[in-house]
Amino acid sequence: MSDAQKQIVTVGVTGASGAILAQKMLVLLEEDPRVARVHLVVTETGQRLFTEELGIISGDLKQLPSRILGHPGAKIEMLPNKDVGAAIASGSYAVDAMVIIPCSMDTLGAIANGISDDLVARAADVMLKEGRKLVLCVRDTPLNRVHLENMLRAQQAGAVIMPAVPAFYHHPKSIDDLVTQYVCRVLAQMGLAQDKMYRWTGTLASKKAEA
Ligand SMILES: Cc1cc2nc3c(=O)[nH]c(=O)nc-3n(C[C@H](O)[C@H](O)[C@H](O)COP(=O)(O)O)c2cc1C
Repeated sequence: MSDAQKQIVTVGVTGASGAILAQKMLVLLEEDPRVARVHLVVTETGQRLFTEELGIISGDLKQLPSRILGHPGAKIEMLPNKDVGAAIASGSYAVDAMVIIPCSMDTLGAIANGISDDLVARAADVMLKEGRKLVLCVRDTPLNRVHLENMLRAQQAGAVIMPAVPAFYHHPKSIDDLVTQYVCRVLAQMGLAQDKMYRWTGTLASKKAEA
């Protein structure tokens, strides 16, 4: 596969619980030969969540991708959230897919209402206006009416709403099993289906009935 055929992806990380989901997403994108470049934007509260939940201190932002991966990465470019003049803030720069993982209700609200005063929200706004794939891994519980209405608005504008809710039908044995299956489902939405994703093929009972 030539570099021109490989995907350019944006990953936004905001201040909702689930930093481990962002970490797994970045590990899988870094390993994926179909991906040429990953633009990473982490909000201020997103940085705090990496520290609170994974003990990863941002420090010099340029070093954050290697701290998240646990080793130096080759594809991940860290962009400051204040830089609304970055390439991904323009529709003329071709990003194939963007995911916000996890996505706070605050950032969801900004996207649903066309407010783009930081790079995460602006890059998401661009994906919608250009008709490109945007996946929002929203997380909060319980949800109030404003949250629910914002999800509907964002979905009607073209976003995929992918609540950070784990599945159990693959009989997970560890947190990593839960996280990996969820992130693989998100990657499939982004056009990057993973071999390691569990695929339901029907219950034993229904297979016996068919035979
Ligand atoms: C430890 C911690 C956990 C949080 N968890 C959530 C959450 O799960 N969902 C959410 O919508 N907000 C959560 N918040 C609140 C958001 O971080 C807050 O609304 C913030 O303004 C979001 O900003 P951002 O979207 O720019 O990251 C949490 C905050 C902290 C400090």
